[in-house]
Amino acid sequence: MTEIEETNHKAPTKTQVAIIGAGPSGLLLGQLLTKAGIDNVILERQTGEYVLGRIRAGVLEQGTVNLIREAGAGARMDKEGLIHTHTDFSFQGEHYQLDIEKYSGGKHVVVYGQTEVTRDLMEEREKAGAITIYEADSVKLHDIESDQPYVTYQHNDELHRLDCDYIAGCDGFHGPSRKAIPSNKIEEYEKVYPFGWLGLMSDTPPVNDELVYCAHERGFALCSMRSPTRSRYYIQVPDTDKIENWTEERFWKELKRRIPPEMAERLVTGPALEMSIAPLRSYVCETMQYGKLFLLGDSAHIVPPTGAKGLNLAASDVDTAYRLFVKIYKEGRTDLIPRYQEICLARVWKAVRFSWWMTMLLHRFESGGRFDFRVQQAEFDYFIHSDAGKTTIAENYVGLPFEALE
Ligand code: APR
Ligand code: PHB
Repeated sequence: MTEIEETNHKAPTKTQVAIIGAGPSGLLLGQLLTKAGIDNVILERQTGEYVLGRIRAGVLEQGTVNLIREAGAGARMDKEGLIHTHTDFSFQGEHYQLDIEKYSGGKHVVVYGQTEVTRDLMEEREKAGAITIYEADSVKLHDIESDQPYVTYQHNDELHRLDCDYIAGCDGFHGPSRKAIPSNKIEEYEKVYPFGWLGLMSDTPPVNDELVYCAHERGFALCSMRSPTRSRYYIQVPDTDKIENWTEERFWKELKRRIPPEMAERLVTGPALEMSIAPLRSYVCETMQYGKLFLLGDSAHIVPPTGAKGLNLAASDVDTAYRLFVKIYKEGRTDLIPRYQEICLARVWKAVRFSWWMTMLLHRFESGGRFDFRVQQAEFDYFIHSDAGKTTIAENYVGLPFEALE
């Protein structure tokens, strides 16, 4: 892959859509707008290499795959992405295959790392000559309720102003966009889970052809992958746990105790390329549009990774925002602006529910004791052995359809 050059364009002073954040949301929206002839500038706090250094999940719904292709960034994904028509589960070591293609009416997912999606979008953006200002510090949003919103930022020790028609807040949970909305106008919901995921990446062959979501009395585990030679594993740890408490050896030993015995037998272990703990939380900001500001992706919602929905939810926000901007700039349809929040929230809450449900079903809650564990076992048993249950999991896992603007 070519090195991502930090674009050192002369600082633009005006654009149509100012995008804050060069993660998947910002890059995907930027690429789609550029292809539609709608001018946009991305302001990113970090360097491109830093953004590419983030380890993130990589299960793509069909809608996300289609959008990446529409953005002209799907060539490597189509070549290297792994089509998965099944996903597996286990409960106390009992292994079950779920045919998500059969139970979703013919759909599947593509396993392709988010880092690779980001890299592909960055490269396409560079080829298109669209402007990304990396290392843009102290980004501030101004006059978002007026007809002349603008953004200011520091770059190379200079203060810059970017006038725009609209601002797309793609700056993740900790970015400035959501915080620019008056606190009395924001409607927020949050649930924090009492555990995190300790993840390990290794250049070892995946233990199973499909992903395996493992519920166990010792705690949840997930066996995933990035390629036929690179594996990604997770185990549930208490929210008070620290990465310093874990060696690779301890990780592999604990993983083997939570996955089906036949998989533990054949598991190939190896040095960790990366080990880290991520907390689990559900969060929704229902104010996804305010004045000329639109929130997309993690700036508006966070889901526990159990349902593999984070990137896919970001992509569905991008789909709606992109089609809205095309309607506005090509047909003057500003009347459709309220539809953005309506459409996004309907899908966000369904994905938040599925991610919450998978988390509650598959993780060990010490506080719930033996009773809750038996109820979890009964619920798992019903869903994995009934057509209705398998259909429900499959339809949500492959992704619910995108809703049209009108
Ligand atoms: N100024 C400019 N950029 C910022 C600022 C800021 N003040 N704060 C954050 N950013 C940038 C971050 O550096 C990051 O590159 O915004 C980007 C936000 O990207 P993500 O957090 O990846 O969010 P998003 O693009 O919505 O993608 C969501 O990424 O985090 C995963 O699990 C999540 O898969 C989901 C996907
Ligand atoms: C991953 O491969 O990192 C991954 C896959 C599926 C998930 C979460 C993470 O649900």
